[in-house]
Amino acid sequence: MAKRNIIKMGDPILRKTSKPVENFDAKLHQLLDDMVETLHSVGGLGLAAPQVGMLKRVCIVEYDDKLYELVNPVLVSSYGKCVDNEGCLSVVGFRGLVERPQVIDVEYFDRNGVKRTQHAEGYFARVFLHEMDHLDGILFPDKMIKKLKDDD
Ligand code: CO
Repeated sequence: MAKRNIIKMGDPILRKTSKPVENFDAKLHQLLDDMVETLHSVGGLGLAAPQVGMLKRVCIVEYDDKLYELVNPVLVSSYGKCVDNEGCLSVVGFRGLVERPQVIDVEYFDRNGVKRTQHAEGYFARVFLHEMDHLDGILFPDKMIKKLKDDD
């Protein structure tokens, strides 16, 4: 395993659309292992492959001590709205208030190519949506309705 460098906002890589994973192979497993190691080294709730320079539709979420590895995730339903604060490992120095759906269902594949579904609500849903936005080149400042300083 190896820790990878996290790309910061301003780098055009973060603005690109990532490509679907076609092969659930050792290379994918290495990427996922490295992303987990990277996330653990810096702390945070999630990380998307473009943040480590890989334009693949892969992201990880760690919530309530449970790790989710999402390959080719798709939002299949969403309900409600809520506003809460978000930060991003690629955005240094500020957080922001972002409106997101309250309840979601996501379909994705695990690292072995097995299709899974996940229901998520509240901040858990928010983390999924934030990470999935990265796969389409979207960063939370694009959506924020209020900027928050780190100490707000
Ligand atoms: Co982020």
